[in-house]
Amino acid sequence: MFLDIRVKSQITIPKELMNKLGLSVGDKLEIFEEDGGIRLVPVAMYSKQHLDELRQEVAAAQEKIALGEAGALDNLGAVFAKLEGKEAPPASPIPVALPEDDKTAEGEVSGAGGSRIKIRMAQEKDVGRISNLIAASWKSAYRGLVEDSYLDSLRGDHWVEYLRSGLRNRDIFAMVLQEGGKMIGASILGKTTQKLEVNLISLYLLPEKIGQGLGRLFYAEIEKEMRRRSFNKCVLDVLERNERAIRFYKVNDYEDTQRTILSPVGEKKYVCRVFEKILR
Ligand SMILES: CC(C)(COP(=O)(O)OP(=O)(O)OC[C@H]1O[C@@H](n2cnc3c(N)ncnc32)[C@H](O)[C@@H]1OP(=O)(O)O)[C@@H](O)C(=O)NCCC(=O)NCCS
Repeated sequence: MFLDIRVKSQITIPKELMNKLGLSVGDKLEIFEEDGGIRLVPVAMYSKQHLDELRQEVAAAQEKIALGEAGALDNLGAVFAKLEGKEAPPASPIPVALPEDDKTAEGEVSGAGGSRIKIRMAQEKDVGRISNLIAASWKSAYRGLVEDSYLDSLRGDHWVEYLRSGLRNRDIFAMVLQEGGKMIGASILGKTTQKLEVNLISLYLLPEKIGQGLGRLFYAEIEKEMRRRSFNKCVLDVLERNERAIRFYKVNDYEDTQRTILSPVGEKKYVCRVFEKILR
């Protein structure tokens, strides 16, 4: 393809190139010399004020996404449509909770023995069952780690109010693991003081479901959800003598920060080790 340089150094860009690059009258091109040749590169020009506004919008959106409060746009076209102030297609909300009838699985996977395993976001109606499950898990897994008297007096509804208000206020979100229709695992996640950091508050399986690879399966979906919400780091603390859980988190690439915290349980305080994972 050849071009003629006309008076006042003018040239005409061939129509087929204009079409191929989606250029039209009024578009801007950057021109520069490169290796003895001339390059023309299409550019979009924004005022500094417009760029600052865009930066602020992106930062606010990132924060909302991390807290699960924002709708998501389905494709890149929708993102640009929104940035350009055009009508965007309907957004798909981040599913903090799934429909009442629970037909839509977040993740549906085949468990040990081919049983139907379903992983989904928890809803407020689940709080009773989640609390019961956590209590059953504590009574078994923490026997010998936490005082017997505390475990014996622990009621099934111990966490109901905490879960209900946490879910309502969006301080937490939770996921459940089901086998058939039965809840066999639950995990609670919450905010930290760092915007893009999530706290894996708890991860529990029913005692009889431990050691079958279900924890690993469940955790993989939980981590996907963290990433979907744009968190870039997960922190957790675990009782220093809970060796099985520590092994589990290490296998799932959590780093021992060497930091410890004192966690109150009933009248006593227990040393917990802090682990973290960068979500790349
Ligand atoms: C933490 C917890 C959720 C992890 O679940 P888990 O079932 O123990 O962990 P996994 O899914 O990785 O299963 C691993 C074990 O199952 C065995 N396993 C059996 N079948 C398996 C399979 N198909 N795939 C993978 N592992 C399998 C593994 O060999 C492994 O044994 P190991 O623990 O001796 O190394 C679970 O132990 C639990 O609920 N613990 C009590 C509560 C608790 O302490 N929570 C953490 C504090 S918040």
